[in-house]
Amino acid sequence: MHVLLLGSAAGGGFPQWNCWCPRCRVARTDPSAAQPRTQSSAAISGDGRRWFLLNASPDVRDQLRWLRTEDTPSTIRHVPIEGVLVTDAEIDHTLGIVLLREARHLPVYATRAVQSILDRDSRLLPTTRAFSEVPVTDLPLNTPVALCYRDGSASGLAVEAFPVPAGPPRFATCEEEGHTVGFMLRDEASGKACAFVPGCGDLDDALLTRLAAADALLFDGTFWTDEELIALGIGDRTAREMDHLPIAGRGGSLERLAALPCKHRVYTHINNTNPILLEHSPERAIVTRTGMIVGFDGLRLALGPAKE
Ligand code: MLT
Ligand code: MN
Ligand code: ZN
Repeated sequence: MHVLLLGSAAGGGFPQWNCWCPRCRVARTDPSAAQPRTQSSAAISGDGRRWFLLNASPDVRDQLRWLRTEDTPSTIRHVPIEGVLVTDAEIDHTLGIVLLREARHLPVYATRAVQSILDRDSRLLPTTRAFSEVPVTDLPLNTPVALCYRDGSASGLAVEAFPVPAGPPRFATCEEEGHTVGFMLRDEASGKACAFVPGCGDLDDALLTRLAAADALLFDGTFWTDEELIALGIGDRTAREMDHLPIAGRGGSLERLAALPCKHRVYTHINNTNPILLEHSPERAIVTRTGMIVGFDGLRLALGPAKE
């Protein structure tokens, strides 16, 4: 299975258009010291040619360039993705659906709760459907679902959606179970698995045990500390109140994830205020010393066959 990190920043990207926090200033003046990043999205593939998107960000048009293969399409129109899987209905994870409206046929995979928010509240599904056929495959919680190519054939990949601690999007009119999930993606042929959890408010033992089964883990690295936005005078809510478990400190994600046996552990959905975005910061060094990777756009992981 191939895993490609398309966008490693949280909503707003890095630097964020209206932000002049210390990290965004460095990203503008010295990108070699703080690499710019697009908004949270990833892709997986069984064969390295046919890809499924994990969340569709507002930067999807630029991000699809990472999927370019050697083959030049022989048809006039060619859609380089086989489907879009969404973990929640947040703007940064779903606006890309409507931006892919030229597809004509755009399969989406989502839980019932996410579908109803996209239908009723953000109206991204009905809006996209004015342009394109958008068949939606339901993702029941804690149940593996096979991913099919656009032509209906089996991809050999499966996804299992599991609920994670978080509130619904601010614009959601009701709070149904399954509004925010993580994905466990499995390749039947190799037996390899990738966990994708870009938004998560807490990590209990049950969730840690689940994540331990993954060969690669892409996890919520939004904030370094709980008070990050308050300290900068940007916001009045803590990271936890925003449903993002901070990386540092007691009970933070770093100490909890450090002991996991996953071969690759990667932070993604990194907010522009987070000091790990600075290549030479002490916070970056603390993360990399534990063997964790600070995700960047274009990061590729190849999860080989079980025998390797
Ligand atoms: C989040 O990650 O908390 C949401 O995406 C917030 C937002 O986009 O405003
Ligand atoms: Mn977000
Ligand atoms: Zn900033």
